[in-house]
Amino acid sequence: MRLSTLFFLLPLATAIPKLPRNQESSHAFFFKGHDLSSLKTLEDVGTIYRDTTRHNQTRPADDILGDGGMNTVRLRIWVYPEGGTNGLEYNLELAKRFKSKGFKIYLDFHFSDSWADPNKQPPPAAWPTTLAPLASTLRGYVKETLICFDRAGIDLAIVALGNEIRHGILWPVGHADVDVQPWPATIANFSNLATLYKAARAGVDDALHAVASRPQIMIHIDNGWNITLQQRWFGAMVANGIRTTDWDVFGFSFYPFYGTAATFDNLRTTLNTLAWEYKKPIQVVETDYPAICNGEYNPIPESSEPEIPYSIEGQTIWTRDVIGIVKQIPLGLGQGVHYWEPAWLNNSNLGSDCNDAILFSTDYSNYPQMVGYSRSSVNLFRV
Ligand SMILES: *[C@@H]1O[C@H](CO)[C@@H](O)[C@H](O)[C@H]1NC(C)=O
Ligand SMILES: *[C@@H]1O[C@H](CO)[C@@H](O)[C@H](O)[C@H]1NC(C)=O
Ligand SMILES: *[C@@H]1O[C@H](CO)[C@@H](O)[C@H](O)[C@H]1NC(C)=O
Ligand SMILES: *[C@@H]1O[C@H](CO)[C@@H](O)[C@H](O)[C@H]1NC(C)=O
Repeated sequence: MRLSTLFFLLPLATAIPKLPRNQESSHAFFFKGHDLSSLKTLEDVGTIYRDTTRHNQTRPADDILGDGGMNTVRLRIWVYPEGGTNGLEYNLELAKRFKSKGFKIYLDFHFSDSWADPNKQPPPAAWPTTLAPLASTLRGYVKETLICFDRAGIDLAIVALGNEIRHGILWPVGHADVDVQPWPATIANFSNLATLYKAARAGVDDALHAVASRPQIMIHIDNGWNITLQQRWFGAMVANGIRTTDWDVFGFSFYPFYGTAATFDNLRTTLNTLAWEYKKPIQVVETDYPAICNGEYNPIPESSEPEIPYSIEGQTIWTRDVIGIVKQIPLGLGQGVHYWEPAWLNNSNLGSDCNDAILFSTDYSNYPQMVGYSRSSVNLFRV
C-alpha cells in the first residue's frame, strides 16, 4: 500500500516548482518536536537510554525519538544560570549535536537565570531594573545570542521571545495581566511589556544584519484553549503598537490537567478563531500526557479529555489528537506540535500531580545511574 502511494506521488512531487526556502518551510513543513533541554544534564551524570525495540540496545534518547518521528528539538535558554545549566554554552553544545543529526532547532528564550512561566518571570540578577536600560540590555542580549548560534553553524528554525508570557516578562517592569479592567486599563497595563517585546524583536533584526538565516519569531502563551485570554492578550499588544508583522508564528501550551476547560473543543475553537483573525501559522509548543497516574503521591487530577486513559497508549492518543487539531487549522496554518521533556527521567511527573508523563520507563535500581527504557509512545510522531 505504501509503495503504490509513493508511485502515485512521485511524478506529482517532481512537477511542483520549488518554492523559496521560507515559504516552503512555513507551508509544507510540519514541526514534530521534543523539548530535550534536560538531556545533557542527565547524560552528564551517566544516565543512559535503552531502545526496547532493539533488544534494549543503549542509544542516545534523540536517536530513539528521531526514529519515532521527531524532526525538531526545542531548547530553553537561561541568561546566567547557576552552574551553566541551560545557559549559552550548554545550548550551543546540544544544538550542534542535534543539528548534525538533521533536526531543526527551536530556541526558547526565558529571559531569566532560571525558570520563567506565567507564575514567575524573574529577571536576570545582573540586568538593570528600570524600563529603558532593561529594554536596551534585552535587545543586546537577543542580538548577541543569535549571533553566537550563527557563529557555531546553527541555523535556528524558530526563536520564541519569552516562555509562556501570559503575564509578561522581566517582572515587575514587564508584568502584564489581561484581566485588568476596563479595556483602556488593560492596554495601559501592557505598555511596558510591549516596549520590552519591541526591544527583543529589534534585537532579532540587529542580528539579522550579521547572520546567515532568518528564524521564525514566535510568541508563546500558555492555556492555548482559552480564546478570551488569547484575544485579549494579542489585542492589548496590537493596541500598544506591536505590528502583526512583529511575530511570525503563535506558540501555545496545552496540557490536560490544568482545569477541565482545557478540552479539544476549546483548543480547536481558539486556534481556528486566531487563524482567521491573524492569518498566521500556529503551533502547540508544549504538551504531554501521563503514562502513570495512580494517586500514590497526589490525588489523581481529572483529565480534560477523560475518555483518554492515563497510560502509555493514552500518551499517543492524546498527542495524535492534538496533532489532528493543529493539522485541521484553517488555511493550512497549523504548523507543528512539540512534546515537553519526554526524556527527563528524574522529573517524570513533569510538574503535574501524576507520577509520570515521560516517554521512557525509568529504572532507578542503580541510582544515581538512571536508565530509561523506551515506551511505545516514543513513536507518537510517526503520523
Ligand atoms: C529489556 O529490559 C527490560 C527491563 O530490564 C526487561 O524486562 C526486558 O526483558 C529486556 N528485553 C530484552 C529483549 O532483553
Ligand atoms: C499590570 O497588572 C498587574 C495585575 O494587577 C500588576 O501586577 C502589574 O504590576 C501591572 N503592570 C504594570 C506595568 O502596571
Ligand atoms: C480564560 O482567560 C480569561 C482571561 O485571563 C480568564 O478571565 C478566564 O477565567 C479564563 N477562563 C477559564 C475557564 O479559566
Ligand atoms: C536530576 O538529576 C540532575 C543531575 O544529577 C540534577 O541536577 C537535578 O537536580 C535532578 N532533578 C530532579 C528533579 O531530581
